[in-house]
Amino acid sequence: MRLATTPRELVIESERLVLRPLTADDLDDLVAEVSDLAVSRMLARVPYPYTRRDGEIFLAAGRRQGSADIALSVTEGGRVIGGIGLTVLRGQHEFGYWLGSRHWGKGYATEAGRAFLAYVFDALPLEQVRSGIFFDNPASLRVQVKLGFREIGRRQVECLARGRKVEHIDTMLTRAVFRRLMS
Ligand SMILES: CC(C)(COP(=O)(O)OP(=O)(O)OC[C@H]1O[C@@H](n2cnc3c(N)ncnc32)[C@H](O)[C@@H]1OP(=O)(O)O)[C@@H](O)C(=O)NCCC(=O)NCCS
Repeated sequence: MRLATTPRELVIESERLVLRPLTADDLDDLVAEVSDLAVSRMLARVPYPYTRRDGEIFLAAGRRQGSADIALSVTEGGRVIGGIGLTVLRGQHEFGYWLGSRHWGKGYATEAGRAFLAYVFDALPLEQVRSGIFFDNPASLRVQVKLGFREIGRRQVECLARGRKVEHIDTMLTRAVFRRLMS
């Protein structure tokens, strides 16, 4: 795994993937992969349909000065196939990720998650990160179990793409558990 020195130029390499900031050149690939209800229905804050304008807003938000969030694209062979990041919400660091549906089932989410969380726990003084899964997303639950997350509660969360609240499993990963699993 290789790390650049500043978060704005952060590049994380895993065996098959490169995690790096999104650029304007990636917009077509981003929109093509995200404008798929199979993807957006599993995410809380992504609209469906997903337009080029939505992609531009996402790109601009990632460039805002002072944002503590980390948003990286997951790339394979130079093309964007997904996204991964850490968002600061109500004082909690929330881990999120997605892949275009053509790229599912190859172990990419687990590989990207391991590399990203290794960076997070190396670079940031965090003892834990939060995440979560809609109840009807067993693939993502499995990814989180492999990464060391555990369930800490359930609640109803608004899903923008479905236009309604959906049961959500809240999860948490501690630095100690992640380190133990990765050693
Ligand atoms: C969830 C998501 C990231 C998984 O990506 P992926 O690269 O296919 O995941 P991986 O291949 O690393 O691991 C998937 C695991 O789930 C398992 N799995 C897949 N479908 C499953 C199902 N229907 N039921 C149970 N397990 C399932 C796989 O077998 C694999 O586990 P294994 O390695 O023990 O065999 C991808 O489906 C996605 O982007 N979905 C839409 C957006 C999303 O859900 N984001 C996460 C929000 S919490």
